[in-house]
Amino acid sequence: MTDRAAVILAAGQGTRMRSPTPKVLHRVGGRMMLDRAIDAAEGLGCTRIVVVAGAHSPQVAAHAKARLGEDAVAIQDPPLGTGHAVRAAEAALQGFEGDVVVTYADTPLLDAHAVTPLFEARAAGADLAVLGFEAADPAPYGRLVRDRDGSLKRIVEAKDAGPEELLISASNSGVLAGPASLMFALLSQVKNENAKGEYYLTDVVGLACEAGKRVAVAFAPEAKVMGVNSQAELAIAEAEFQRARRRALMDAGVSMIAPDTVFFSWDTEIEPGVVIEPNVVFAEKVKVETGAVIRAFCHLEGAHVRSGALIGPYARLRPGADIGEDAHIGNFVEVKKVEVGKGAKANHLAYLGDGRVGAGANIGAGTIFCNYDGFDKHFTDIGAGAFIGSNSALVAPVKIGDGAYIGSGSVVTKEVSPDALALERGPQIEKPGWAARFRTMKLAARGAKSK
Ligand code: UD1
Ligand code: CA
Repeated sequence: MTDRAAVILAAGQGTRMRSPTPKVLHRVGGRMMLDRAIDAAEGLGCTRIVVVAGAHSPQVAAHAKARLGEDAVAIQDPPLGTGHAVRAAEAALQGFEGDVVVTYADTPLLDAHAVTPLFEARAAGADLAVLGFEAADPAPYGRLVRDRDGSLKRIVEAKDAGPEELLISASNSGVLAGPASLMFALLSQVKNENAKGEYYLTDVVGLACEAGKRVAVAFAPEAKVMGVNSQAELAIAEAEFQRARRRALMDAGVSMIAPDTVFFSWDTEIEPGVVIEPNVVFAEKVKVETGAVIRAFCHLEGAHVRSGALIGPYARLRPGADIGEDAHIGNFVEVKKVEVGKGAKANHLAYLGDGRVGAGANIGAGTIFCNYDGFDKHFTDIGAGAFIGSNSALVAPVKIGDGAYIGSGSVVTKEVSPDALALERGPQIEKPGWAARFRTMKLAARGAKSK
């Protein structure tokens, strides 16, 4: 395979986002758009990746450098058009002899799969390959002017198009691929004599044809190449991401009763045979194994739910929650950084943070792991088969032995031996007849007043 490099354009101003956060650092499926573009380039096997950032958003350059290294960022200052932006990457690609693909950091749904046909066209002999789409509303896009044989003659920007050309619905996604040497040779000839006074990347197509080169077009679904320019478009991209993810999971054997109410992250892993009830949110880094059921209204982040476990309704799993096989985490239970053993149960109203719950243990309603002293977090260790009575406060660090019982309402501050009963509560006192005497006295007093 010819070596591949990617130039990812990210130097636009993004003013229509009206946000203090640079546009390409906004997230789709929980993943920054810039990272999604880099993921796609990596998915294509690109060995060199250059992000073209603007001087106005140092955070974009910093983020790209942190992920890809110092050399992977080129600064375009000032931004004078898409062709000018790609030229800004030339120095960073010095010595690279393979194919370059140009993509965009604000096109979050473009994946490696959608771009692959460009490289297939290159392998089939095209000198350049452009990714097009049939636009529902082509008004804002560059149009693909093709020959009778289907090869591309030139791309004309909407603002520069004549009436005939404006009738063309085949539109330019902006993504294109070709040999680095040809790409940069053509770009050096691009002029800015057009409606916007910019150096258009799209002009390389016409220049290539004039030089006797052949330019192929491959088509992608419009949803994959949509760009994000505003918060509203970001929400549309998110909706499209979710739609595709739900569909893919259902196709792979995940059951959802109301898929439109279930939200996934880019990295959510759900095995076939999992059932997800309505209104569930999967934030980043969640894995759910087969046979688990996620009941309605749960929020999961950084959690591993093992086979056969039952979560919710109304459970919150936070980072480090590792829920064992067939374990139950019920309503209004929060779990953070706790390994819950096989078959253990915490069915109602509890906070489990920083600890371990042994296999088969039972955590009663109202149990709290008091893990924080205002400075440090401490560990609560509950042995296998232990029984924690309702409304117990376990003050960490603390260890409850295997099979031990904790009486309800206890505040446990010391280690409890295996199979022992620990009880920490005031003795119950009883005063026979007290309530009856109290009522008689009160009623008599009321009678005296009303006379
Ligand atoms: C571009 C294409 C058009 C295509 C459309 C698809 C050109 C001349 N036109 O038009 O054919 O239909 O995309 O959305 O290429 N950018 C830079 N530096 C610049 C200018 C732009 O990095 O100097 C980046 C922007 O951040 C953006 C992308 O390039 O991500 C596209 O730029 P934009 O100005 O939006 O191009 P369009 O006019 O939409
Ligand atoms: Ca655009």
